Amino acid sequence: MVVAIDGPAGSGKSTVSKILARKLGFMYLDTGAIYRALAYVALKKKIPLDDGKLLAELAKTMQIEFKQDEQGQRVIVNGEDVSEKIRTEEVGMAASKVSMHPEVRKALLGIQRNFGEKGNLVAEGRDMGTVVFPNAEVKVFLTASPEVRAQRRYLELKEKGINTTLEEVLKSVIERDRQDSTRSVAPLKPASDAVIIDTSNMSIEEVVNSIMRLVELWKKEKHTSS
Ligand code: DC
Repeated sequence: MVVAIDGPAGSGKSTVSKILARKLGFMYLDTGAIYRALAYVALKKKIPLDDGKLLAELAKTMQIEFKQDEQGQRVIVNGEDVSEKIRTEEVGMAASKVSMHPEVRKALLGIQRNFGEKGNLVAEGRDMGTVVFPNAEVKVFLTASPEVRAQRRYLELKEKGINTTLEEVLKSVIERDRQDSTRSVAPLKPASDAVIIDTSNMSIEEVVNSIMRLVELWKKEKHTSS
C-alpha cells in the first residue's frame, strides 16, 4: 500500500508523513531529500544548475541511502552523511532548480519507485500522487497559506540555529512555490483523486488523524469488496 503525500514547502508534509509512517508501521520515503542530495552534490562539484543533461548524468551515478537511527532517518549520498547539510534554504532552492529538468526527473523516477516495491510506504514530495505512484491507494495534498508556511519554516530554521528573518523565508517560500508549480514536467498540483487538506489552522495531530481516517476507510472498503 502507498500513501502519497504531496504539497508545497512548509505544508507540514515531512512532520505528518514521518508520524504516519511510524503509526502505520510503513516505510517513509522523503523524495525531497533525493532532489536535495542531488543539488548538494551538484553545488559541491560546481555543476551549473541549468545544465539538465549533466545533472541527469550525476543523478544516474548518485548512490543514495536512507538509514534509520535514534534521531530518525539519515541521508547518505556517495558515502557522505548529508542529513543536516541538505536542509539549508540554499540547498532547498537549488533542489527546486535541479528538479525543473525533465531529464533529472526521469533519472530519479526509478530510484523512487524502487522503494514502493519494497513494501508499504508513506511517500512525500510534489508528484507522488500524479507521477511517481499514480496508483497509490491514498492520495493527500497538503496546503497552507504562504504566511503560515513561512512562519513554520522560520521556526524550524531558528531551532536549528540557522540565522534568517521571517521576511527572507516568506520570499523564498513564494519563489519556490512559483518554480515548483510552473515547471513544465510534473508541476506541483494535486492529483485529480487526491484529498486536499488545508493545514493552516490545524494541529499536526489533527492532520495525522484525518489521514489515518482515510487509510482506515480504504482498508474497510477493500475488506468489504473482497
Ligand atoms: O520537500 P522539499 O522542500 O525537501 O523539496 C525540495 C525541492 O525538491 C522542492 O522545492 C522541489 C523538489 N521536489 C520535486 O520536484 N519533486 C518531489 N517529489 C520532491 C521534491
